[in-house]
Amino acid sequence: MFDVAAIRADFAILDSEVNGKRLVYLDSGATAQKPDCVIAAIDEMYRRHNANIHRGVHRLSEEATERYEAAREKVQRFIGAEHREEVIFTAGATASLNTVAYAWSEKFLHEGDNIIISEMEHHSNIVPWQIMAERKGAEIRVLPFDDDGRLKEEMLDELLDECTRMVAVTQASNTLGTRPNLKNIIDKAHRAGAHVTVDGCQGVVHGGADVAALDCDFYAFSSHKLYGPTGVGVLYGKRDILEQMPPFLGGGDMVDRVSFAKTTYAPLPLKYEAGTANYVDAIGLGEAIKYLEQFDLAAIEEYESQLRRYAEEQLSQIQGLKIYGQCENKCSIVSFNIEGIHPYDVGMILDKLGIAIRTGQHCAEPVMTHYGITGMCRASIAMYNTREEIDALCRGVERAVRMLR
Ligand code: ALA
Repeated sequence: MFDVAAIRADFAILDSEVNGKRLVYLDSGATAQKPDCVIAAIDEMYRRHNANIHRGVHRLSEEATERYEAAREKVQRFIGAEHREEVIFTAGATASLNTVAYAWSEKFLHEGDNIIISEMEHHSNIVPWQIMAERKGAEIRVLPFDDDGRLKEEMLDELLDECTRMVAVTQASNTLGTRPNLKNIIDKAHRAGAHVTVDGCQGVVHGGADVAALDCDFYAFSSHKLYGPTGVGVLYGKRDILEQMPPFLGGGDMVDRVSFAKTTYAPLPLKYEAGTANYVDAIGLGEAIKYLEQFDLAAIEEYESQLRRYAEEQLSQIQGLKIYGQCENKCSIVSFNIEGIHPYDVGMILDKLGIAIRTGQHCAEPVMTHYGITGMCRASIAMYNTREEIDALCRGVERAVRMLR
């Protein structure tokens, strides 16, 4: 195992007070806190090495470019991509998923085709596909989950057909914590001739990813949930597919030659990195990965799972409390509601106690619709959380129940 106290010392914000109470931060699923080394790397970039990348022969531009490209290689290693040009920096997971949805659909989606999307997806892995399906005259099919939050993977056999072009699925649900059996889904989709896009936002931070072993065609995640800065994310795509796709955004850096008669495009990955990339935060993401790589990711995952199980045991003692998502192999997300109590009221009382959780639809309205509810409370657990913080959460929820009933 690892030393949680030492880890906490790396995250200055965890020492702060909220409403006069020590902060208990259980909203890392929305955004994780940042270790000092990430903040320092960003600070150092602006103070010592800042210049636009890929654009200058001067010293600072070369330094910034080297650091940016080194961050790309860190991401490549971290997610197990075969080629560095398969790693594209974007503005975040939403930008990654929109890039693949738009550019891939332009090439591969036609009238009469269909896209299968799991019912537990975040809106970012639903709406871009809907927009493109509508434009192209394609159909959206939904792979449902059961009331325990288990994805009904066996139903893929019925949904997949010769017109299926894409399967969009999460590595770990941001509301239910469910980790679908991705390998099974990807293999089935490939046998049917479809591509697969995986939303890795919640999955990559709980156990990492190996895109080559998974054999997914696209994989998207955000830096800010992986202890890195906001405003940057990654789109991984298989090189041969990315090469067949048209560009998404046009502008500087993504071109080879430009003339009014004809413009040609830069090779991967720059073809998908139009404009000045968010190179400082990409370098910050590289630093976050370096920080994480000093630990055994499996040990972190085991620690977070223990905390998650402990939270579920404690919370389920509270009368009228229902936990959503009962799969054994969940990531460390605990979503719940208490009969007769609005999740916002619980969230506001917890905030008074210094405890941060997320309340609402979690950008996954179809999950709420499945259960016939308008929102949930969600505690999401990270490597820096402790058993004492879970105790504080449970005492806080009990108090909220006493006050609100
Ligand atoms: N998508 C983020 C979440 O699940 C913001 O909270």
